[in-house]
Amino acid sequence: MVVTASALSEAFLQQFQTERQPDCFRAPGRVNLIGEHTDYNQGLVLPIALEMACYVAVAPAPHGNLRVYSSNLKQTREWPAARLVSALPERDWGDYVAGTAQQLARAGYEIAPGDLYIRSEVPEGAGLSSSASLEVATALALLGERSIDKLELAKLCRRAESQFVGMPCGIMDQYASVFGQEGAAIQIDCRNLEYRAVKLPADVRIIAVNSRVKHELGSSAYRERVAECNEAVAAIRKVNGAVESLRDVSLDCFKQVQDYVPPTPRKRARHIITENARVAEFSAAAAACDLSEMGRLFLASHWSMQHDYQISCEELDFLVETAAAIEGVEGARMTGGGFGGCTVNLVRPFALDGFRRKITSAYEGRFQITPLFYECTPARGAGRLY
Ligand code: GLA
Repeated sequence: MVVTASALSEAFLQQFQTERQPDCFRAPGRVNLIGEHTDYNQGLVLPIALEMACYVAVAPAPHGNLRVYSSNLKQTREWPAARLVSALPERDWGDYVAGTAQQLARAGYEIAPGDLYIRSEVPEGAGLSSSASLEVATALALLGERSIDKLELAKLCRRAESQFVGMPCGIMDQYASVFGQEGAAIQIDCRNLEYRAVKLPADVRIIAVNSRVKHELGSSAYRERVAECNEAVAAIRKVNGAVESLRDVSLDCFKQVQDYVPPTPRKRARHIITENARVAEFSAAAAACDLSEMGRLFLASHWSMQHDYQISCEELDFLVETAAAIEGVEGARMTGGGFGGCTVNLVRPFALDGFRRKITSAYEGRFQITPLFYECTPARGAGRLY
């Protein structure tokens, strides 16, 4: 994507004037292959960064404000640059920008007045991290020539979301957008915040299917799950004081202590503990090019989210069940926060056309919604475009 100075000035209704080419930054969305809701439990996740990305072009401006135009929404937001440090959320898309600017300011990076032009290819509400990619691209644009440690960048953008937007998310989305690797998934250890690249077998494609539903429950249920996991940890700590998070609990240990945990937090904990194991097993199966084991783990993960974590919905279950019955589909599961958004599917190249056709006609027949398909190729993480 190339943003010219003239596109910027059109966007800002001719008020924006610059002689020079604006700087432009790119931050990708992500699809998580496996390891759902484990990040805020210090567990393992395995996302890939996507080619679909958010782009932010930036140029200095004399008006004293940070002024932002979203070309997707055709809307402008602005804040006095000097007062961003105490800005308050307004419950719309501008919060991701203001929150990121605020975190930068609080970390000692002065926010100069300027114009930002945003264009995103990451579909919103699809569970592919449109918000994290906006935060990361915004942070890079506001930093400009100033360098920042990559992990600090991911942490800072996460704080924008948890402290300003008010969503108590884990670090996976921002981390994947920053550290994404071309040609590989990244297995992130959310306890020590290190990662390793995991190559995927060549004879399988990763296809995200957008259910195009987003049930309202999403953010309140997310908070509830975070609280229920904390409740499980508190109960387990009464019997084993060494446990600090569900990451410290092996399946064997859990079997011994589970009766001390109330029923709902017990189910949540069982998902997290089994899901951590599945991430490690999936990475090993990928290294061994064992497609059927990778597929089995996908389906087991979906089952666990459907029954233990209870974050799936009718549409996602239908997409997973339909996909699993198609020849050449190794596995399918919901991905992201849940209650809508996408499923992620492991599909053999020979089966791609039939997969699209069969999923589309079944889903249209059942819900009168045409699903969207994204072929996901692991792409590089965020950086300067030009
Ligand atoms: C959202 C959050 C992430 C993670 C996923 C679920 O995308 O932002 O931190 O918890 O849900 O895996």
